[in-house]
Amino acid sequence: MNKVLKVFSLTSLFTGAALTMIPPTYADDDAIDSAIKARRGLMQLHSHYAGPLFGMAKGDIDYDAALAANLAENLNAVVNLSMARMWPPESDNESREGDTRAQPNIWEEGSDIGDKSQAMKDAALAATLVAGDGLDALKGAVGDIGQACKGCHDDFRAKDF
Ligand code: HEC
Repeated sequence: MNKVLKVFSLTSLFTGAALTMIPPTYADDDAIDSAIKARRGLMQLHSHYAGPLFGMAKGDIDYDAALAANLAENLNAVVNLSMARMWPPESDNESREGDTRAQPNIWEEGSDIGDKSQAMKDAALAATLVAGDGLDALKGAVGDIGQACKGCHDDFRAKDF
């Protein structure tokens, strides 16, 4: 087989042929499973960066300007990842009982989860601007972050799996 032909047959194997051979239900299940894991992992990252900021604001951890600024920068990066592939339809806690706490109302007509997500982005961005400017400045920004997390969880996250 010459080189050009070889490349052509490999390409068609990995694009058209390979993809159409996967049964659609398997592909969907796999994508939903992956999306649920990804968004739960993403939420763990939210906690990983926001947690110590909450701790500083409460006085449980000593305020450290450099660390606070770094945490805020990272939280801001995390909340700005694209959510598009993490919330496919049929990935709610009724369709996927035990795997997720995401409530079906996320996907309902008129759901304001987009606004809640935007509030989170606004709060994280605001925190990046003041986190290194002293504990008092940090406290206000962290309060808004906490409200943004809670605002979304109260409406869209079930208490239990
Ligand atoms: C726009 C909505 C929204 C915002 C904002 C939000 N969350 Fe979540 N969070 C969710 C939903 C929905 C779930 C349930 C996800 C699932 O089980 O599939 C969740 C789950 C979690 C979990 C559990 C993850 C796991 O392992 O199951 C943690 C921890 C968490 N969020 C932390 C945070 C923190 C901290 C913030 C703020 C910095 C935050 N979240 C902001 C919607 C949000």
